[in-house]
Amino acid sequence: MRFVVTGAAGFIGRHVCTALLDGRHDVVGVDAFTDYYDPAVKRANARALAGRPGYRGEELDLVTAPLDELLTGADAVIHLAGQPGVRLSWEDGFACYVERNVTASQRLLEAARRTGVPRVVLASSSSVYGNAATYPTDEESPTRPFSPYGVTKLAMEHLARAYVDNWGLPVVMLRYFTVYGPAQRPDMGLHRFIERVAAGEPVPVYGDGEQVRDFTYVGDAARATIAAATADVPPGTVLNVAGGSSTTVNRVLEMVGECVGRAPILRHLPEQPGDVRATGGAIERARRYLGWEPEVPLAEGIKRQVAHQLGRPDGGP
Ligand code: NAD
Ligand code: UGA
Repeated sequence: MRFVVTGAAGFIGRHVCTALLDGRHDVVGVDAFTDYYDPAVKRANARALAGRPGYRGEELDLVTAPLDELLTGADAVIHLAGQPGVRLSWEDGFACYVERNVTASQRLLEAARRTGVPRVVLASSSSVYGNAATYPTDEESPTRPFSPYGVTKLAMEHLARAYVDNWGLPVVMLRYFTVYGPAQRPDMGLHRFIERVAAGEPVPVYGDGEQVRDFTYVGDAARATIAAATADVPPGTVLNVAGGSSTTVNRVLEMVGECVGRAPILRHLPEQPGDVRATGGAIERARRYLGWEPEVPLAEGIKRQVAHQLGRPDGGP
């Protein structure tokens, strides 16, 4: 099959493209190498894909570039490009979130409609739930984002719904829950924890560290993403992609300490606006539609991320 993957040089994009290429698919990987974090990290991800048989990289910005030619003939588009991270979406930062999460997605959906792409998979987020009404949270739970980032992801979902309802565009929306693993974004919690613990530096912990996240291993997230692009799923379906590992930040820090072999030094900072108290996703629907199950337990996933980040053997891709 021929896939177009947007955000291919990002954290999840790198793993999705690698898994597609391992499955002998053709992949066009699109990225604008934005400066949300160091673009050199994204260039390194792109280099890891370039040269592999079946892969072609395209540097372009979805906000401005013509997209029809890119999508023509694709069997599926996996749209991972966007501005991630909940904590920087306040104040002037918001404009970028609107542009990269809403405008870019609208342009992609239009191009997909015009060119008749048979399947579009969109990267949404657990952040659309905000502080959820119930845990584990299923896809029918109320959406009440707690951050401007979450608002832009929910806007993207509503846009997609309008394309499904008016044109029957075959869109599947995935709500990822805090994805981690080798090559994780450098702004994310686990990446920072490993970096600071290994260096013997204080780890910034927001609030009391008792907030809970449903951490999802990136290889599991990539498998769910590819299944969503290929399985028989009705247009407009929303699926949680969660690891089933709801754990506090304090416990994760202990696990990092054990793996790195050094006790973390904690530096408590104020709770961050936009950070919810807990996430935990129900995955029955993903199980049913995708036959998908998370496979990598948190302890094993942390071990792999530590190995990759610190250049130890068995560090993964
Ligand atoms: P990432 O920042 O590593 O990857 C996103 C990529 O998109 C980047 O390489 C960036 O350069 C590219 N990009 C941004 N705007 C673009 C544009 N206009 N045109 C072309 N390329 C553009 O982030 P990630 O962690 O890999 O996340 C991938 C997607 O999944 C994002 O949409 C994110 O919001 C969503 N998501 C991630 C998580 C997580 O825990 N990592 C959780 C929920 C949702
Ligand atoms: C992550 C991604 O960054 C978002 O793009 C994504 O949409 C979201 O998951 C999601 O699930 O939808 P977050 O859960 O904040 O957001 O992920 P991390 O940055 O890895 O933070 C995890 C936890 O560690 C949070 O509770 C945060 O408060 C804490 N943290 C993070 C710290 O205590 N210190 C830090 O330096 C960083």
